[in-house]
Amino acid sequence: MLLHNVSASLLFLTVIFASIYNVSLQRIRDKMYEPIEGASACFRRLNGTHQFGCSSHRSGNVGVLQFVDDDMDLNWLVENATVSPYMAVLPPKMFTKDVLLKLKTSGKVNGVVLINNGTETRPEHFSHEDKCPNRYSGLSLVHEQTCNISDPWNVHGTGISLIDWGFPIFHVKDEDNISKLYQCYKTHNAHDRDAQVERSLCALEMNSFMLAAVDSKTCIRRSSATTILNRVRYCDPLGDRNIWSTLYPRYKAEEKNKTVIVVAARMDGTSMFDGIVPGAISPISGIVTLLMTARILAKLAEPLDEQHGDDNVMFVLLNGESYDYIGSSRLVWDMTHGVFPISPNSDIKVKQPPFYLHNIKLFVELGQISTLGNVSSSETDFYLHQYEPSSNRVNSQNVISSFKNKMNNVSQNIGLKFKDAKKKNSFPPSSLQSVLAKSPDIEGVVLTDHESHYLNTYYHSIMDDSSNLKYVYQNGSTPSEDSIQTVIAKLSRSLAMTLYYMISNENKDPPELEAKMVDELLHCYLDTMDCPVFRAISYKQKLDDKPASLYVGVNVWLSPITTLTGHALALLVNQTDSNKTEETCYSDVSNRVFSYIWMHNIIDDVNSTGACIKTTMNFSSAISPAFFEEQDYDWSSGNYSTWTESIWREFSVRMFLKPSKFHENLTFALGVVVLALSFLIVYFANSKSHILFGNTFVENSC
Ligand SMILES: *[C@@H]1O[C@H](CO)[C@@H](O)[C@H](O)[C@H]1NC(C)=O
Ligand SMILES: *[C@@H]1O[C@H](CO)[C@@H](O)[C@H](O)[C@H]1NC(C)=O
Ligand SMILES: *[C@@H]1O[C@H](CO)[C@@H](O)[C@H](O)[C@H]1NC(C)=O
Ligand SMILES: *[C@@H]1O[C@H](CO)[C@@H](O)[C@H](O)[C@H]1NC(C)=O
Ligand SMILES: *[C@@H]1O[C@H](CO)[C@@H](O)[C@H](O)[C@H]1NC(C)=O
Ligand SMILES: *[C@@H]1O[C@H](CO)[C@@H](O)[C@H](O)[C@H]1NC(C)=O
Repeated sequence: MLLHNVSASLLFLTVIFASIYNVSLQRIRDKMYEPIEGASACFRRLNGTHQFGCSSHRSGNVGVLQFVDDDMDLNWLVENATVSPYMAVLPPKMFTKDVLLKLKTSGKVNGVVLINNGTETRPEHFSHEDKCPNRYSGLSLVHEQTCNISDPWNVHGTGISLIDWGFPIFHVKDEDNISKLYQCYKTHNAHDRDAQVERSLCALEMNSFMLAAVDSKTCIRRSSATTILNRVRYCDPLGDRNIWSTLYPRYKAEEKNKTVIVVAARMDGTSMFDGIVPGAISPISGIVTLLMTARILAKLAEPLDEQHGDDNVMFVLLNGESYDYIGSSRLVWDMTHGVFPISPNSDIKVKQPPFYLHNIKLFVELGQISTLGNVSSSETDFYLHQYEPSSNRVNSQNVISSFKNKMNNVSQNIGLKFKDAKKKNSFPPSSLQSVLAKSPDIEGVVLTDHESHYLNTYYHSIMDDSSNLKYVYQNGSTPSEDSIQTVIAKLSRSLAMTLYYMISNENKDPPELEAKMVDELLHCYLDTMDCPVFRAISYKQKLDDKPASLYVGVNVWLSPITTLTGHALALLVNQTDSNKTEETCYSDVSNRVFSYIWMHNIIDDVNSTGACIKTTMNFSSAISPAFFEEQDYDWSSGNYSTWTESIWREFSVRMFLKPSKFHENLTFALGVVVLALSFLIVYFANSKSHILFGNTFVENSC
């Protein structure tokens, strides 16, 4: 009885004590750790055979802060530093492959922070993509490589994002956080560096643990193995949706034999860090050129309900192209299987006939577009890239050369020139490669700002932003003559006029140059998604007040910028159906030719009651066939994109004061002493228990 009371109260006390202890421990921890909010992480991606990117240990990586501003700092860290592991803090100019590899092989570094102080001058180049982007896919599957590694397209590409780093890398942009790190480093670590062992040091803990490992094959297999309790996902395939729209609706059966000029651009870019893919020159300038071309062409070709000539035009924005052409390889797969735009088996009355690859008369791709190569303030040159084997074909040339002639013809007086790209045995990375790999006879050109290598030295990086494109929002004023807005307006005008001529054999002049509209569109992608054009297409929907991120994302999540872009295309072409009200404005299940979308419709008038937009625009899947085509897909074949993205639980960066080595050793030694003592006491009590407690105690308790 007594014994029970004693143990109960002991238990009670323990609980009380433990909870108090816990609370105070929590408080101590809060005091000790200073969170660095808003840091974005490098994460892990996998292809069929490898893993790339970054991950921390399961419980996070810890290291002493060390700013590495120059080679002296680097050498000291690699050769003389004594209290490893360290966290190396690098400004952009030090964030190079050489430096990172040195840090990695030194074994002294547990993580890297890239600090990107916006006011500092930028390095001349900063691209972490491969020198030959998508070098294993596209045409290289069927022909030899079309990118010459000694004279590559992305000359300054470091390939940093295609290395498996084995430690976390974070990007910190916020000025306050940068100065927090710097202050702590300055106060505790910077002085008297060779005596760091003796004192407490400022340290970082970074957590970016990735659940997936090895390669996509392993991860997809592990993910689909269901346990009794639940299904655990380790990674998701990269993918989203393509956007497409035809100038004239395709509903008659004869469409099956008609030819179509495809105008394509890519929808996605990428970078090393989560959530920061500004993508100004690639892909935004191409997207905006395509949207504007569709708008101008629709004006020229009205009324859009009836097709006059034989040819049609299809606009396509392809998604996931940065990762071995996910979107274009899927579109080509769909077309060769006769399921684009809709499966023929479905028993819907009014639907579009299948669109096959042989329906393509000409494939015009809008690549990187900028004013970086401007010859003078009044002349901009563009280059038309053609795949050589196809240009040697008999009777080819006709379509492409008439396209080129017309383009030069219509832009004679507006300062644009379209030239043949003359680079031997090379063809730029492009969606057209997916098409040519399947069907080499298709005629196609890629239109870019560059001839033999990218002018964009920030390709696929966090710095490919509005300043790289030399874009400044004009907010209603007319952009200057040499601005990117005017150049894109001129380019889309020339392209629309040429396309109109090619489908109708008629010349028509568009009413005006719409540089202001280009200005508004670029504003939406580069400055803030809460912008006049996106407000006009969304109805009672909250828009994020930040620039868009153009990363393709994973298939289980629909990227908002893809939806916004699709709807912007519908708005710009602008066919309204005034007979439909908000309630009746939806797509009819028995008629799959037009979609109906209710939107504000009028740019910069949120009070407008809205209108029902009728459009041929629709989305199609941009998920690689590797993930559904065959049960036993050969993951190392490279036939289709196999990119996946690892799942993670959290990203966190915390700063704290790490006790000195001496202090740590002391604590450890004390611990060992206490442990030894307690063993001794227990041993002693045990061996003398008959004296200490007597036999009665043992009997009672039984
Ligand atoms: C994955 O990437 C590595 C390195 O870039 C490459 O060697 C390999 O061929 C790729 N695997 C597939 C299946 O694409
Ligand atoms: C950013 O860099 C500039 C120039 O190097 C410097 O004057 C400024 O103090 C830096 N800001 C921070 C927060 O480090
Ligand atoms: C398409 O063309 C083929 C031969 O070129 C012809 O047999 C067929 O009837 C045509 N189909 C339609 C729907 O016009
Ligand atoms: C654009 O101009 C309007 C009207 O003058 C103003 O209200 C708005 O704040 C401006 N927007 C930007 C981003 O400067
Ligand atoms: C609206 O309905 C009327 C009467 O049914 C029809 O004549 C007209 O063509 C319709 N307009 C549109 C844009 O569909
Ligand atoms: C749009 O595409 C989806 C499939 O992606 C299809 O179910 C739908 O019917 C299409 N809508 C129209 C109007 O074509």
